[in-house]
Amino acid sequence: MSTEWAIELHALTRRFGQRTAVDALSLRVPRGSVFGFLGPNGAGKTTTIAMLLGLVRPTSGHATIFGHDVQHEPTAALQRVGAMIEYPAFFPYLSGYDNLRVLARADGIAQPHARIQQVLVLVDLAARSKDRFKTYSQGMKQRLGIAAALLNQPDLIMLDEPTNGLDPAGTVEMRGLIRTLASAGHTVFMSSHLLHEVEQICDQVAIIKQGKLIASGKVAELLHRGHGIQVQVTAQAEAAVALLGKLDWINSVRHEGLTLLIDAPNERAAEINAMLTRNDILVAEIRTREESLEAFFLEVTEQP
Ligand SMILES: Nc1ncnc2c1ncn2[C@@H]1O[C@H](COP(=O)(O)OP(=O)(O)O)[C@@H](O)[C@H]1O
Ligand SMILES: [Mg+2]
Repeated sequence: MSTEWAIELHALTRRFGQRTAVDALSLRVPRGSVFGFLGPNGAGKTTTIAMLLGLVRPTSGHATIFGHDVQHEPTAALQRVGAMIEYPAFFPYLSGYDNLRVLARADGIAQPHARIQQVLVLVDLAARSKDRFKTYSQGMKQRLGIAAALLNQPDLIMLDEPTNGLDPAGTVEMRGLIRTLASAGHTVFMSSHLLHEVEQICDQVAIIKQGKLIASGKVAELLHRGHGIQVQVTAQAEAAVALLGKLDWINSVRHEGLTLLIDAPNERAAEINAMLTRNDILVAEIRTREESLEAFFLEVTEQP
């Protein structure tokens, strides 16, 4: 457990016949992050997670979890992993509690009763734990799936589309639960085809399309990709360009009439304003342009 990476994919590839579901995917998920694995339906998310769990064999490439190769050292790789993939399978006529007891026994969990109570409280199902699984709402079923994933106190939790099929209230609860897991120190790797979901929950994101990695990084950084500052001056646009052009943190500056178009970090807009004012160049308006992650996601996923 010395590695800083919870998950590493090295050119991971899976073909089904002629179709390449996951295409030379390389990716690193930092320990302690809440990582969003974002892509449209059919992008290869579930196949990737299934390979990470040893359920699907890669055609080529490999994956490691906490430094252990999933294929060659599956026990070491997966012992600190809890996962919920697609729809969690439970016995419909058993209660939530009894379903977890079956799993705890299979997993050889010590003191199963105490642990089951703990995870039921965590996913907010304690009050309904004696009811049969088949009476649960979709949200409760998903939360029981997460409870099952948490039984063995995993360091890494993998959730495949955890809010799929949930109503708005269930979605909000699920987001809260994922944040709770993250603040308790778990690394969370969750897939989603919904951008705003990832935007709201995750601190890092990888975007895939047709099995290929398109972009990855900190959500905050991807949000600021299209940074730019527009300044409206009342006069002396040329002088302003000359002045700002000398600053090393300004990547480029030009003007169109009295509008300065500046490529610089948005958060430094106030400094630009101060600098111009100090030099007797009056500023009528300042605007920052933030390309939202949404626009970026649409841009990178909608290209044919
Ligand atoms: N067992 C399988 N046999 C054949 N094709 C599959 C199989 N599993 C997935 N695929 C195909 O691989 C691609 C990726 O699927 P999947 O990983 O489920 O995507 P996602 O989870 O991102 O929606 C899809 O085109 C899908 O049809
Ligand atoms: Mg899927």
